[in-house]
Amino acid sequence: MLEKIKATANYIKERINASPEIGIILGTGLGGLVNEIEIIDSIPYIEIPNFPISTVDGHAGRLIYGKLGEKEVLAMQGRFHYYEGYSMQEVTFPVRVLKYVGISHLFVSNATGGLNPNFKVGDIMVITDHINFFPEHPLRGKNNKELGTRFPDMSKCYDKRLQNKAKLIASEHGLNIKEGIYVGVSGPTFETPAEYKMFRILGADVVGMSTVPEVIVARHMDLKVFGVSIITDSGVPGEIVEISHEEVQKVAMKAEPKMTLLMKKMIESL
Ligand code: HPA
Repeated sequence: MLEKIKATANYIKERINASPEIGIILGTGLGGLVNEIEIIDSIPYIEIPNFPISTVDGHAGRLIYGKLGEKEVLAMQGRFHYYEGYSMQEVTFPVRVLKYVGISHLFVSNATGGLNPNFKVGDIMVITDHINFFPEHPLRGKNNKELGTRFPDMSKCYDKRLQNKAKLIASEHGLNIKEGIYVGVSGPTFETPAEYKMFRILGADVVGMSTVPEVIVARHMDLKVFGVSIITDSGVPGEIVEISHEEVQKVAMKAEPKMTLLMKKMIESL
């Protein structure tokens, strides 16, 4: 795997002739950040050697290299979800590659169901910690020491300094942000009311179907991580209504300007 990671990273480095320090996974709610990036190059995933093949209808995905303010960034437009059938190695491969291109920071976003009764649909939440509820671990198998240690520490998964910076930026710009714990599940079903209740009892504030594998791998390689969730629907007893992917997208679109502003200011201030 290491050879593949290095080969893919080399392909990207040679193509962009740069080594940006900031990686971004443009999950749900962060699509708008693309419009803020001064795009220098955009590489369709299909052209990147060893990248997983995208299965999503039409949305092939691309890696964007560009500038956000003064900062050079590499942004993944389109991520690989476990529920699509990718292996954990495939889901997390791009994060490995970004590390070998040279990033030191990873910014991620996602859509979630809210479990904390103080959260409203449309809120955004800075992730302070996570619970891994995926049925398979991305680091299971032989460990390559060059990538990271066999038993990675997870006590400081989401960078505290970046979280504090987010709070500062939010107060400066009048953004109301929550903070809390993300539980990552495989999906693709949304939760039953009993499952939402269980995840709340287990200590989570939101539930979603991504992020945790990528963050585990990022921390394995000692990247600094910052993550934000959009609460697109409620899993709070008494507030649960029927939902769909379309509804999730619609709510996420509405919250996008808040999310985009926060991420943009965060990255510019590094
Ligand atoms: N559950 C899991 N994943 C999600 C949800 C949810 O309610 N909403 C958006 N992604």
